[in-house]
Amino acid sequence: MKKVTAILRPSTLEPLKDALIAQGFTGMSVEQIRGYGNQLGWKESYRGHENFVNLIPKIQIVLIVDDKDVEEVIDIICETGRTGEVGDGKIFVSPIDEVIRIRTGERGYDAIH
Ligand SMILES: Nc1ncnc2c1ncn2[C@@H]1O[C@H](COP(=O)(O)OP(=O)(O)OP(=O)(O)O)[C@@H](O)[C@H]1O
Ligand SMILES: [Mg+2]
Repeated sequence: MKKVTAILRPSTLEPLKDALIAQGFTGMSVEQIRGYGNQLGWKESYRGHENFVNLIPKIQIVLIVDDKDVEEVIDIICETGRTGEVGDGKIFVSPIDEVIRIRTGERGYDAIH
């Protein structure tokens, strides 16, 4: 299993949620965060006029997925999140050792489906 963490524009959240659910990915965690990338936040403007802001509001999503589903999830996130402008965000992928569904005690693959 893998943890797919993506930092994205807030406007991406609703379409991404819809696209993931449509493809059968039914669990996700979301946080509102602030951050900066290569441009240190200075080339992105928030609400069009606050160019002085250098910590830009983003959303961070976390999905735990089966190894075989990682590339599909990456494709969905990229297709939904790409505007082509600086600040579209990043995706980080890391290994996950174990998942347990507390209600049933199911583990691993069974616990994420
Ligand atoms: N190396 C990093 N480590 C952790 N978070 C990062 C990193 N780079 C970017 N982020 C997070 O991703 C958000 C969006 O980054 P951004 O898309 O601007 O990256 P970038 O490398 O500057 O790419 P681009 O040139 O397309 O803007 C940042 O606001 C920050 O929250
Ligand atoms: Mg950037």
